[in-house]
Amino acid sequence: MKDFWSKQAAKWKMCFLAPMDGYGDSAYRQTMKRVAPHIYLISEFYSADGLVHSQFLADSVLPHQDMEKPVVIQIFGKNPENFTKAAKIIERHNVAGIDINMWCPAKKVVRSWHGSSLFINEELAYEIVDTLNKATKLPISVKTRLSFDGNQDLIKFAKGLENAGASLLTIHWRTAKQAYTGNADFTNIYELKKHVWVPVICNGDIINYEDGMKKVQDLDGFMIGRWSFGNPWCFLWAPHVDMKSELIDNNNFIDSIYHPTLWEILSTMEFHATKLVEVKWERKWSLEIRKHLVQYLKSFPWVRDYRKRLVTTESIENSREVIDEIRNRYIKSLDLRPSLWELDELLD
Ligand SMILES: Cc1cc2nc3c(=O)[nH]c(=O)nc-3n(C[C@H](O)[C@H](O)[C@H](O)COP(=O)(O)O)c2cc1C
Repeated sequence: MKDFWSKQAAKWKMCFLAPMDGYGDSAYRQTMKRVAPHIYLISEFYSADGLVHSQFLADSVLPHQDMEKPVVIQIFGKNPENFTKAAKIIERHNVAGIDINMWCPAKKVVRSWHGSSLFINEELAYEIVDTLNKATKLPISVKTRLSFDGNQDLIKFAKGLENAGASLLTIHWRTAKQAYTGNADFTNIYELKKHVWVPVICNGDIINYEDGMKKVQDLDGFMIGRWSFGNPWCFLWAPHVDMKSELIDNNNFIDSIYHPTLWEILSTMEFHATKLVEVKWERKWSLEIRKHLVQYLKSFPWVRDYRKRLVTTESIENSREVIDEIRNRYIKSLDLRPSLWELDELLD
């Protein structure tokens, strides 16, 4: 089981959904996987201490569906003993692995020596990986960055993590201090790959499968986060598209990006909303779905006609009403791939 990641890496370039707090719950993951069955899913991060001390948290966030497999649970913390206890709880849920968050730059996380600050507390980082690795049969991976503030040595850190038992490393190309600034540059990650045995995944500003495959080079895979918002199709490539030949002629369209039909978009919205109701209780559900549904329609100028209702939806019925209304309005255009066209013109 510990060789899970190297076995996966031997098959083909791996494509991951990034862990995202407030997004990567079971409903989001099922939605991504329904569209892109080949991807690997990492959950949003959960506190190792929280999982140990709150049965309620563990029972709410760890259960998942078969369709999500292989799913990895990401945890953060600084107390090796609690990582061990958390692993025992996570193990009961039949997951593919545990990922340790050494990525998070948030001030309150860094100040309490969690997340990316482990980069400047290397010995503790190694101890956490070592203890966790010995405590569970699950493979342990780490998600981290180029460095904390530019003054740390990625290769040294990554080798330390590998020696401690990490069997997959995901590297985001920025330092913690950079927040979300700068232009994507994976040079240091390509260099790292020459120095470690374990699979290396790159992350940061990858917009779709095509972009990921261009950037991955000798690495073992790539991870997409924000571009998946309302866009599970970012993980697909065009051979999946049953593109009408006249469409290609009319648009002189040659790219390998998957463009979903309006029907696919609306049915995916409905699926996502339905899964959120199943996963979360109604009130929490309605608050969460508000941020998701509009994302699916963000590139359509006519989203303005629905935005207010989507971001204030109170129930699944509310959301379905809006989706049905859009479906009826564009009933003749449902099998078109709107991102290929002048959206307003074609659809109204
Ligand atoms: C809303 C949000 C929440 C995030 N939460 C986490 C998290 O829980 N754990 C983690 O390792 N990274 C987290 N990240 C970082 C992403 O996993 C990813 O590294 C980052 O967004 C860069 O990738 P992207 O450019 O593809 O979005 C989060 C990012 C966003 C936007």
